[in-house]
Amino acid sequence: MKRQDKRNPNIVLVGFMGTGKTSIGRRLSMQLRMRYVDTDDIIERDSGRRISDIFAEDGEPAFRELESEAVRKVSNLYSYVIATGGGVVLKEANMVALKRNGIVFCLNATAEEIYQRVRHQSHRPLLQTPDALTKIKTMLEERHPYYATADYMVETTGRSFGEIMGYIKRVFAQSIKVSK
Ligand code: S3P
Repeated sequence: MKRQDKRNPNIVLVGFMGTGKTSIGRRLSMQLRMRYVDTDDIIERDSGRRISDIFAEDGEPAFRELESEAVRKVSNLYSYVIATGGGVVLKEANMVALKRNGIVFCLNATAEEIYQRVRHQSHRPLLQTPDALTKIKTMLEERHPYYATADYMVETTGRSFGEIMGYIKRVFAQSIKVSK
């Protein structure tokens, strides 16, 4: 990871699993010609293991430690689009670090929409349960106060990629202008 132009902040995407952080993040990075990084990818690359294996073998607390380490690394970057794992918001220190050089957008979606998006995927250990919809509803409720600490909330249900990205790009452009 190279540090880029020191003057521009990062665009940081947080939000529940399946809200589109990776898809939106990759598209934004291409359109804005910013580099892209994902904390889950860093964890897998640095540990040489899959996230589901880390959860299964070492448990969630061990995963959260690796996640905080990945957050510390990406928080030192500039001019990146940073996608994060859905639980990154749970530790206040993670959010403080991500906000230091970045503007944090939280992608939201309804539980039903998230369920439709993730139901055929098997790489998320926390959703490998017979009643994933109920689990999603419970987790969304528990995590709501944490997601609310983002700088901006972005509703994705019923919105196209173009609409979502248009909003993020406008807010980002405005905040760069204001801070210069
Ligand atoms: C998690 C979300 C996942 C991954 C891990 C835990 C969570 O990332 O970090 O499975 O606690 O919400 P995505 O949000 O990219 O699926």
